[in-house]
Amino acid sequence: MDLLSGELNARLKAASGPTLWLVDENIQLSSAPNAAVTVVGNRFDVIERLEQQGWQARFGDFELSDFANEQFDCILYRVSKEKPVVHYLIQEARRLLAPQGCLVLLGDKGEGIRTYARKAASCLGGERQEQKLGKDSWCAHITPGPRAGDCPEHQNYPELRPACEDDTRVYWSKPGLFGWNKVDRGSAFLIERLPEMLGQSLPLAGRMLDLGAGFGYLSLNAAGPDTRLTCTDNNAAALLACRFNLQQAGLEGRVVAADAADRVEGPFDVILCNPPFHSGFAVDGDLTDRFLSAAARLLDRNGTACFVVNQHIPLERKAAPLFKDIQLHADNGHFKLVRLRQPIHP
Ligand SMILES: C[S@@+](CC[C@H](N)C(=O)[O-])C[C@H]1O[C@@H](n2cnc3c(N)ncnc32)[C@H](O)[C@@H]1O
Repeated sequence: MDLLSGELNARLKAASGPTLWLVDENIQLSSAPNAAVTVVGNRFDVIERLEQQGWQARFGDFELSDFANEQFDCILYRVSKEKPVVHYLIQEARRLLAPQGCLVLLGDKGEGIRTYARKAASCLGGERQEQKLGKDSWCAHITPGPRAGDCPEHQNYPELRPACEDDTRVYWSKPGLFGWNKVDRGSAFLIERLPEMLGQSLPLAGRMLDLGAGFGYLSLNAAGPDTRLTCTDNNAAALLACRFNLQQAGLEGRVVAADAADRVEGPFDVILCNPPFHSGFAVDGDLTDRFLSAAARLLDRNGTACFVVNQHIPLERKAAPLFKDIQLHADNGHFKLVRLRQPIHP
């Protein structure tokens, strides 16, 4: 277990007064559930796991408005990757902390923890103490005080905004989502080649799954009025953005919170997927395997799954135990498109 996780676990265990633990995907947990702690997190898989272990946990896009002012003695937060999310949560801490309370920020130097600590102290208006846990890891304590100031850098995190566009439309999104303000070049490559990959024109008819949908780019470009569309993701902000973009485009679809589609029932005629390979600050090759297994489970016997991945990911090898028909359809030097058919259902 890394130093930050060790420190976080010790604090979760020791918490006695009302404590809020803000969590995204960066956790290694060893501590038993503590009834003093309320957990709020934006990753469905993390919250589902914590609930199963007995934690009082809530999934959402860090909507904290129903907590009362000054409700918590302590707020624990291992900082997220996206700056506006961190600044927004620091601002929320200012309202939620009791006068004698404490915001505890944990993070590495490269993640900007020391800057966050400084800015949190000027936002909360109290004192800050920083504790070095190891070479790069820090734990900062910030208390509320009389000199509370603005926290302007949250960029209105709660709101969706027009984030990027192409020839067809504007995509609404927000910081914290995968590639939130750009069309992913791999996904654009998949859409460009999709008609020839499937042997049918767009929009698609039939049952389609967008696996790891993000803000819905693949669905928005492949689906139409005759598509029975399901989109799934584990990120609360992605689910919000996806629902909004589908609605803007006049598309009907189910948008399902799940961990690698574990709550989704098939079968589907077409599955589209640009699988994740990052989990928080770490690379997680296992995620690709889990997405492939989900695709095999959910694909109709006569269906087709179309994946786009970075060129270096050995998708064909990983897919070999799961599909009888695996074809490298295209490779543009950066991304490859792989067509999977005839799933091997156990
Ligand atoms: C590479 S992005 C692709 C997004 C979108 N389909 C696109 O083409 O722009 C991968 C997506 O998988 C989601 N994801 C990551 N881990 C997941 C998990 N365990 N379960 C479900 N979705 C996950 C991420 O939130 C992200 O939206």
